[in-house]
Amino acid sequence: MILIPAMIKDTLDRPLKNLRISVTDRCNIRCQYCMPELEYVWLPREEILRFEEIDQLVDIFGDLGVDKVRLTGGEPLLRRNLPTLVEKLAAKPFLRDLALTTNGVLLAEHAQTLKDAGLHRVTVSLDTLRPERFKSFTRFDYLARVREGIAAAGRAGFDHLKLDTVVVRGVNEDEVVALIEYSKTVDAEVRFIEYMDVGGATGWSMDKVYSRQNILDEVGRHYGRVDPVVEVSSAPADRFMLPDGWTFGIISSTTAPFCRTCDRSRLTADGMWYLCLYALNGTNLREALRSGASADELRTLISKGWQVRADRGAEMRVELRQRDPLVSRETLRTDPHLEMHTRGG
Ligand code: GTP
Ligand code: 5AD
Ligand code: SF4
Repeated sequence: MILIPAMIKDTLDRPLKNLRISVTDRCNIRCQYCMPELEYVWLPREEILRFEEIDQLVDIFGDLGVDKVRLTGGEPLLRRNLPTLVEKLAAKPFLRDLALTTNGVLLAEHAQTLKDAGLHRVTVSLDTLRPERFKSFTRFDYLARVREGIAAAGRAGFDHLKLDTVVVRGVNEDEVVALIEYSKTVDAEVRFIEYMDVGGATGWSMDKVYSRQNILDEVGRHYGRVDPVVEVSSAPADRFMLPDGWTFGIISSTTAPFCRTCDRSRLTADGMWYLCLYALNGTNLREALRSGASADELRTLISKGWQVRADRGAEMRVELRQRDPLVSRETLRTDPHLEMHTRGG
């Protein structure tokens, strides 16, 4: 029997299509916009979902309409035997897109194995092309490794390689053009992301946000002309074309968010399910799973959760008059689930 996925909708008529699965909360670098502190509270090891458990949950999400999965972290390549999970997921006919977001540090050693396991796409975070800046921004001297990782992903032949750059004013806003030029050399699309006031971004302030408009002005000044690429999509990036036909993207989560079309939810490494990047509370699917809930019961739990969803976290932040980091350092310490490295970027 073929199960036709039930198309469940939330209160704003948004379907559940896209699941971001964080496979570990650990990371091997310390980007200032995500992990600026010296110490972190980690998820207990015994609570981390096993691959079989992730596999089981993905089937249930698939029944409810999910057809895109993105593996994230922390740094997902720190999870042992990740290709085994990729292989399980790649075998699911309902997943038309299976992607990975990585910081690239370990990518050179894993790119080919991941491709062979069936991974479709890779997105690499890359905020600077300057080794000294990379080191001071992430506390590790790994830029060369990341560049090797990007090259290896190119050789492995993934579809549509992407680079994600968070632009922070006073840190890397002077590299927008250099990053576009670099993206041409590695045949990747670079997307510039506005610095967000979410999760562990305790050093965030509005004056550090280099906005979509700032980016467009800078690119326009350099290349003469930037044209929007007209397309209908629920993806967070708006795409633009340069006079030579090369494209890049902007993800304006902070000044012009895309909550209205947001079809994504997130599963943390310990099985908490969040309906929004900005959500303060989630549903504990691990507990349900481990206490022996049947597939039917899990389907009901998830579909009921989605059907009452009204989240539009990023849009609500825009409506605030005074904007400070969403969560304080003290609160983050009481619940690591509020961290972006737990929720999966
Ligand atoms: P594709 O379009 O499928 O390639 O994926 P993506 O753009 O969702 O993937 P990626 O992990 O590269 O996400 C890019 C960035 O967009 C993230 O790192 C976040 O900064 C931002 N982002 C992702 N999901 C959300 C979300 O739910 N809400 C908001 N406001 N920003 C998000
Ligand atoms: N603002 C914007 N993007 C962020 N990420 C993590 N923290 C932030 C933040 N404060 C995203 C980046 C990074 C991915 C893993 O998570 O896009 O590349
Ligand atoms: Fe940077 Fe990603 Fe690690 Fe966060 S999880 S510190 S964004 S590499």
